[in-house]
Amino acid sequence: MKEKLQKIREEAMSQIRDAVDLNMLNDVRVGILGKKGALTSVLKSMKDVAVEERPKVGQMVNDVRGEIEKMLEEARTSMEAAVREARLKAEVIDVTLPAKKNNVGHRHPNTIALEEVERIFIGMGYEVVEGPEVEYDLYNFEKLNIPADHPAKDEQDTFYINKEIVLRTQTSPCQARVMEQGKLPIRMISPGRVFRSDEVDATHSPSFHQVEGLVVDKNITFADLKGTLEEFARELFGENTKTKFRPHHFPFTEPSAEVDVSCFKCGGKGCRFCKGSGWIEILGCGMVHPHVLEMCGIDPEAYTGFAFGMGLERIALLKYEIDDMRLLYENDTRFLKQF
Ligand code: DAH
Repeated sequence: MKEKLQKIREEAMSQIRDAVDLNMLNDVRVGILGKKGALTSVLKSMKDVAVEERPKVGQMVNDVRGEIEKMLEEARTSMEAAVREARLKAEVIDVTLPAKKNNVGHRHPNTIALEEVERIFIGMGYEVVEGPEVEYDLYNFEKLNIPADHPAKDEQDTFYINKEIVLRTQTSPCQARVMEQGKLPIRMISPGRVFRSDEVDATHSPSFHQVEGLVVDKNITFADLKGTLEEFARELFGENTKTKFRPHHFPFTEPSAEVDVSCFKCGGKGCRFCKGSGWIEILGCGMVHPHVLEMCGIDPEAYTGFAFGMGLERIALLKYEIDDMRLLYENDTRFLKQF
C-alpha cells in the first residue's frame, strides 16, 4: 500500500510538471483526486486493509492527498501569474500616440440667434409657445383675415397637403391658436419652421424660420408696440440702434408697419452692408385687426393688441454678417464652427 501511494505521488508530481496550461492541470486533478481518480480508488480499497492497519493507511492517504493538492495549487497560481504577465506584455499602451480627436458639436447660428431673441422677450415677460408645422388653412389664412383670393394662397407660394391643410407659410397661425384659448392677457412669442414654395437662392429657401410675437390686453396701443420693438432692436443690435416704422399692409393688422433698424455696421451713414441707405429691414408688425380678434373670440371693444413677425435667418445673417442664406443649411462644419 505504501509503495502504491508513493507511486501515485510521484506520478502526480511528474504530471503536474508536464502540464502546460490550466486545462491540463485540471485533467491531472481529475485523474488523481476525481471520483474515478487513482487516489480515490485507493480509498475505496480500504475495506481490504486489515482493521488495525486502517487508521495508519488512512493517515498516509490523507498525507499524500494533501501534498498533491498543495502541488496542484502552486502550479495553478504560477500558471495564472504567467498568463497575466503574458497578457500585460501583449497589451502595451503607447502613451505617446496622439489621442483620437473628439469633435464636440455646438449650436447652429440660427439657434444662437433664436436663443438671443427668446432671451430678450422672456426678459420682458413673454411666454414661448409652439404651434404645428402642418396647419389648417383656417388658421394659416382664414382666421388671419387673409381672403380666399389673396396671392399668398396661390399654389405658387403655398405647399398644400389637401384643400384644407397646408404647410404653414408663417408662424402667425399661432396667434389665432393662442387667442382662441381665451386666456387673457396674452404676451407670447412663437418661433418655428415655415414653408413656402420658393426657389433656393442667397435670400430664399422653401423652408425657413420665423418668430411671431403677440400681445393682447386692455389699453394696448401702437406706442406699446413701438416701445417694445425699439427696446428689442437696441438689445439685439446695440444701444445706439435707431428704429424706423414704415407704413405697410398686412391683412391681420391695422394699422401695419415694417420696421427698419439703423445699420449697425456704418451707424446709418450708408455702406455696402445696408446698400447705402443706412437702414436695414428686420420685421413686420401692426395692431391686431379687430376682425381677427373677433374671429378668435376676443371682444375688440374691450381688448386691443399688437403683433409682429420676423424671419429668423434674416436676423442670423445680419447679426453674424453672413452674405448667403444657403450657408445656413449646408451643414459645412468649416462654416458652422465659426460661430
Ligand atoms: N406673417 C408675416 C409674414 O410672414 C409677418 C408678420 C407681419 C407677422 C406682421 C405679424 C405681423 O404678426 O403683425 O410676412
